[in-house]
Amino acid sequence: MTVNGEEVTREIEGRLLLIHFLRDHLGLTGTHWGCDTSNCGTCVVWLDGEPVKSCTVLAAMAGGHEVRTVEDLEQDGKLDPVQQGFMECHGLQCGFCTPGMMMTARALLDRNPDPSAQEIREAISGQICRCTGYATIVRSVQWAAAHEAGSRTDETDSPETVATGTAS
Ligand code: FES
Ligand code: FES
Repeated sequence: MTVNGEEVTREIEGRLLLIHFLRDHLGLTGTHWGCDTSNCGTCVVWLDGEPVKSCTVLAAMAGGHEVRTVEDLEQDGKLDPVQQGFMECHGLQCGFCTPGMMMTARALLDRNPDPSAQEIREAISGQICRCTGYATIVRSVQWAAAHEAGSRTDETDSPETVATGTAS
């Protein structure tokens, strides 16, 4: 399979899940494993451009396909606007759910550059934040959307003016 743009080949057991392949075989521990029930969504990665719960995918099923993990969001030392948004708007508390949230958010913004708060909530509805920080997560994604829109239209705009307060 291709992981973050690099081809990888390994001999693995057929029952190995993609989450464990990424973490234990490739050392990509940014993707977290949070449950045994396919509920938490902290394990979300992209498979051929679609967010998937990597604990529900056999590694062998990803053979020949493209996987993207949270490690690939930062490019050339520059944070993805989604990462920046989580930083600016306090989108994380313990940070455990954050990798999956960010991969889903990135996919959402690639399809819908200006999502409503409701659309953001629907997009992340398969993911659980135990720190109950949903208000700031939504705000973080909105920050990223505004920032990207600003850089697309007018470099002099100030997307930082998007609300950056704390959760209520
Ligand atoms: S680890 Fe919880 S949904 Fe995948
Ligand atoms: S920030 Fe702690 S689980 Fe979401």
